[in-house]
Amino acid sequence: MRADSIEGTGVRLRRYRAADAGAVRAACNDPLTQRFLPALPRPYTEADAQRWVTEGAAAAFPSGGNFAIADPGTDALIGSVGLLYVQENVGSIGYWIAPQARGRGVATAAARALTEYAFTAGYARIELRTELENAASQRVALGAGYTREGVGRAAGARPGGRDDLIVWARVAGDPPGPTPRHLPDLPGGELTDGVVRLTPMRAADAPAVQLLPCAPAAPEETVRYCAHADAAWLADQEIRLTIRDVATGAFAGRAGLTVRHPDPTQAEIDCRLIPARQGHGYATRAVKLLCGWALTGTALERLVAGVPTPDLAAQRVLERSGFVREGQERRTGGRTDLYRYALLRPGS
Ligand SMILES: CC(C)(COP(=O)(O)OP(=O)(O)OC[C@H]1O[C@@H](n2cnc3c(N)ncnc32)[C@H](O)[C@@H]1OP(=O)(O)O)[C@@H](O)C(=O)NCCC(=O)NCCS
Repeated sequence: MRADSIEGTGVRLRRYRAADAGAVRAACNDPLTQRFLPALPRPYTEADAQRWVTEGAAAAFPSGGNFAIADPGTDALIGSVGLLYVQENVGSIGYWIAPQARGRGVATAAARALTEYAFTAGYARIELRTELENAASQRVALGAGYTREGVGRAAGARPGGRDDLIVWARVAGDPPGPTPRHLPDLPGGELTDGVVRLTPMRAADAPAVQLLPCAPAAPEETVRYCAHADAAWLADQEIRLTIRDVATGAFAGRAGLTVRHPDPTQAEIDCRLIPARQGHGYATRAVKLLCGWALTGTALERLVAGVPTPDLAAQRVLERSGFVREGQERRTGGRTDLYRYALLRPGS
């Protein structure tokens, strides 16, 4: 890892210079950088920045490597990317981007460039760890060709405790990315029929989602459910959406799909409304919108649902949305039997 500079698509990775200290200090004091890189000093002082650009960054050579990410036009520092030596031929990558340079592909290009350079230097496996709440970094991982391998429990240190981290890896010979997704993003970020709007659930939705009759008793579980919605989606496991009234923006409920492991072409649909919004056709609209997109815009081919036999309203919603009742699931332990419904991809 002795390169002085590495060219990527729209980015240059180069050694740090003393003149980078101001930009490093500003970016490392940014709240998002501080939140997702808990090992950084808080606050990140001028002395910290000076130490990093003059000796800290270089200390990882020759087994790893830390690079400034520079704008190839101006050579100004816009981010940082580093490869930490883990064990023989295995490295771990990390990065941050200055706030003003985010959202235009810099991290993805830099991660890809350093990963590919590492393979040419003899590395066989590069790992990447992201927090479950850090959707942007998970998207960088996918964009740079990494595969999600699972969740490392208590894998990350933070002040006062440890966090679970998603573990990603790219091994030599893997395609350059983006890593394909079975559950892509919604077209334009939403589904709407002019009356209801379905959008991906966010951490900020937790107080509204907690109003649903099916919400867990502990509000912190709902906070986690909402905050980890992106991670579940990007893992091709689950889609979690909120349903809102288009006219007022008021929260009406949630709808979602859970992919049925191990068959990634089947998913279970779920839709819940707050009591005040029941009986107005919102659930049928939401289910139709979600199923219409899922069966044409994703790899899903068969959507299924289980409805308690006495729940006539839910059965009507599914039947109006085109689901066909396939049978009755008998249950034990005093639990109510379910009618099983399914809807297939058109033309199947
Ligand atoms: C995570 C971070 C490095 C991303 O940098 P970036 O240059 O903005 O990333 P890119 O422009 O390459 O975007 C990558 C993807 O993230 C998405 N993205 C960018 N900002 C986002 C945000 N705030 N929320 C959700 N997604 C976001 C982009 O749309 C893109 O998605 P796509 O590939 O599906 O189209 C940057 O936000 C950052 O510095 N965060 C703080 C430090 C950090 O989290 N480091 C990583 C620790 S693991």
